[in-house]
Amino acid sequence: MATTIRNIVILTGAGISAESGIDTFRAGANGGPSLWEQHRVEDVATPEAFARDPDLVHRFYDMRRAAIQTKRPNPAHVALARLDAEWPGSLLIVTQNVDDLHERAGAPLGHNQRLLHMHGEHLKAWCTSCDIRSPWRKELSSRPPCPVCGARGLRPDVVWFGEMPYRMGDIYAALREADLFVSIGTSGAVYPAAGFVQNAVELGVHTLELNLEESQGSRMFHETRLGVASEVVPTWVDEILGRD
Ligand code: APR
Repeated sequence: MATTIRNIVILTGAGISAESGIDTFRAGANGGPSLWEQHRVEDVATPEAFARDPDLVHRFYDMRRAAIQTKRPNPAHVALARLDAEWPGSLLIVTQNVDDLHERAGAPLGHNQRLLHMHGEHLKAWCTSCDIRSPWRKELSSRPPCPVCGARGLRPDVVWFGEMPYRMGDIYAALREADLFVSIGTSGAVYPAAGFVQNAVELGVHTLELNLEESQGSRMFHETRLGVASEVVPTWVDEILGRD
């Protein structure tokens, strides 16, 4: 491991929000069925599904958007917000999650500034007419008008299967500068995020995985620590901030 760590890239996935009560996509957290066991990806999470049956897709995302607003950040989100507030070097938290729990954990500390939602955000609507994204908390299934242009063409601002995740150039640039890459609560099943560990290793970056169980990519990490995010993440943050 590099003796001096200055630049950190962190990737988070559904596992960091599991203890807040948000379903994971694959491995079912809390013993229940995972999201993609309850809903077929091809029915609700592709551009083709939206073109075929927009009502179904809107209802699915309306339900998810309403649900996340009833959830609260857990100690893992709070620990990363503290790291963001206190880490003197560069830091980029790349989240695959579309919830706003990282932001809400950071709010009391002056907001999470160094956060990137590569798969979009539940609390934004994207206008397919004027291309502008607006903050959004309510439903979209009633086809409300875009607050900017008035057209009734809003869609969830969520990256679907077959679409390009956001700000990949910024993520790869941060990885090139990184001394440490940390992956938290993700199964490593969905690319391009699943490939970040390999990019990091090839760039000579030290890699650490914090997850409930071994993931598909575990063997690629220099180090894996298993446990629930609410415990392993605060422990690691204390360690890196020199408080252990
Ligand atoms: N603490 C830490 N890890 C946990 C916890 C927990 N309390 N609970 C579950 N996990 C782990 C699981 O073991 C699993 O490895 O979190 C991971 C969740 O994996 P997925 O459900 O596949 O979620 P994610 O990796 O974020 O999915 C990636 O797939 O369909 C999509 O677009 C969606 O962004 C998502 C992407």
